[in-house]
Amino acid sequence: MPRTRHIRAAIALSVTITAQPAMAQVAPLEPSGRFSVYPSRAAQTPPMGWNPWNAFRTDVDEAKVRASAQALVTTGLAAKGYTYVNIDDGWALKRLPDGRLRIRDSMFPSSKTGSDTGSFLPFTGFLHGLGLKAGLYTDIGRNTCAQRWDADSPNLPEGTIAERQVGSFGHAEQDMRTMFADWKFDYVKIDACGVADYTPADPPVTSGNYQAFAPMIVRGDIPKSDPRAVEALYATLGEAAHRFGGDAATLSICAWGEALSPIWGHVRGNLWRTSPDVEFTWKSMLGNFDSVVDGALYAGPGHWNDPDMLAVGHGDFDVHHLTEARSHVTMWAIAAAPLLLGFDLRNAPPVLLDLVGNTEMIAIDQDAAGNQGVPYRDGDAMTVVRTLSGTGQRAVALLNRGAQPVTARVTWAQLGFAPGSSATVRDVWARADREPATDTITATLPAHGSVLLRLAGTPADPSTTFLDEMPARVNIAADGLTPETALAMGKFPARIATAPDGTPLVAAGKAFAHGIGLFANSRIELRAGGDFRRFVAIPVVLGSKRPVRFRVYADRKLVREVSVTPTQPPQPIDANVAGAKIVELVAVAASGGTGRPPMIGWGNAALRR
Ligand code: GLA
Repeated sequence: MPRTRHIRAAIALSVTITAQPAMAQVAPLEPSGRFSVYPSRAAQTPPMGWNPWNAFRTDVDEAKVRASAQALVTTGLAAKGYTYVNIDDGWALKRLPDGRLRIRDSMFPSSKTGSDTGSFLPFTGFLHGLGLKAGLYTDIGRNTCAQRWDADSPNLPEGTIAERQVGSFGHAEQDMRTMFADWKFDYVKIDACGVADYTPADPPVTSGNYQAFAPMIVRGDIPKSDPRAVEALYATLGEAAHRFGGDAATLSICAWGEALSPIWGHVRGNLWRTSPDVEFTWKSMLGNFDSVVDGALYAGPGHWNDPDMLAVGHGDFDVHHLTEARSHVTMWAIAAAPLLLGFDLRNAPPVLLDLVGNTEMIAIDQDAAGNQGVPYRDGDAMTVVRTLSGTGQRAVALLNRGAQPVTARVTWAQLGFAPGSSATVRDVWARADREPATDTITATLPAHGSVLLRLAGTPADPSTTFLDEMPARVNIAADGLTPETALAMGKFPARIATAPDGTPLVAAGKAFAHGIGLFANSRIELRAGGDFRRFVAIPVVLGSKRPVRFRVYADRKLVREVSVTPTQPPQPIDANVAGAKIVELVAVAASGGTGRPPMIGWGNAALRR
């Protein structure tokens, strides 16, 4: 019973919760005429800045944070975009009987203002005075992560069980008002240990020191988790953050990819973690990269996949491992990931400042189009292609994931360049131009090595843009998720040129090089912005006998509808979408079938000028 109930709770998450008043409610498969991501002016490019957690955990204090903020300015990193200074766990001393939070003033002496809560205004005023932005931390549950995982820390909340409940559960309105309206923070990171790690069997609870919380997240176990309840808590906090911080308030969801957060994060916040905390090892870093790399269709301006803060400066990414540190940053930049530094900036090695301060790397991470890179795999060699703003502009990461040298390559087909045409090649880390190239670029990479390139080339067909060349203009508004499919998919049910189960998109035995694969009973919104005349695709049904109806809408008007069965030869769609701001692609499986809805594909889907 709990199994089906919980999975069922995960269905159609993005459309059933009403806590976000700005989101129009539409039936999942009805055209919305909107691009229904988290409505926000914040984080139009991935957030950049510094967070003390990876350097200091709870052993943080105001002097360290202020000196780090100052260092962002004096090293020039702030001017290059590293502007957020985000306090993490450890700042809250207790919750007062009237529900207000009291700051640990031994940690933040400037917060001593004579009031019983203290105030962060002097601190945020200091940051704002430096031209920086300020972030704070809380949890959707009653307690935070450090109370569970850093239990020996001297900087844990104090007092009674109730006083130590410094998480925002039941205090969304009050806490967001305090943080945004009263203390003038710009950013909040909202953790989730409070709904995961305080079960009756967990040590904090068995010790008698913490109140039990029936878990909404059981790590790694969607059926035992309650994704809808987790999403609802974030929705309530996001709505309150907007009320008190305006739509420039940044909301960072930290549910580590659990409770299906990678598929609803784009509706509830500006960035969402997709994986556990990065550890300072190559393996962990790769795992976190892999947790975002197939998620390009979920990211774009104002909403980003978050593989966690940078581990640069620590362990496998310290000054003695510059190859690994560079590859780590290359992966984050090609994936349009947030760049949150986590090493001690006060006496930072210049070579690390130089590495994270490479303006050509930053320009790729921060490219205004917001397209996350798209991966191609070849054993330990990996190629990730990112479409940048400007005709023919591409970034390419060639990566060696393994410990033996490999040769990695990128082809003109992967880049969408005209065969035989020449492209200029800029080596971002060498800060040097290479010889122009034609048709293929190869690189022999040492163990864990990488190359980050910026190319300017000639598009194969300047009038046609495949959707996978502009994933930031794609929003997966309804994903067809059902009890069965929730278990059959990878992290992201909608994938580029790939079915949800990871197999290629095929029709008549031939794999499509482009397109979007997902489940039927889905709706995709495209931010066409009036720039295109036609939508073209070859709709396919994968491995099912059920017919599927494919519909194309232009600004909510149905412009094309076809029925596709798996046995018939592929039938191209060519729909008139001239001038449409929003194009929507709906796929509906014929009723009557049992089991999961069919996997489908919009093969070679493209918009034409
Ligand atoms: C969790 C988060 C981390 C950090 C710690 C603080 O583990 O994922 O990023 O905020 O909590 O306790």
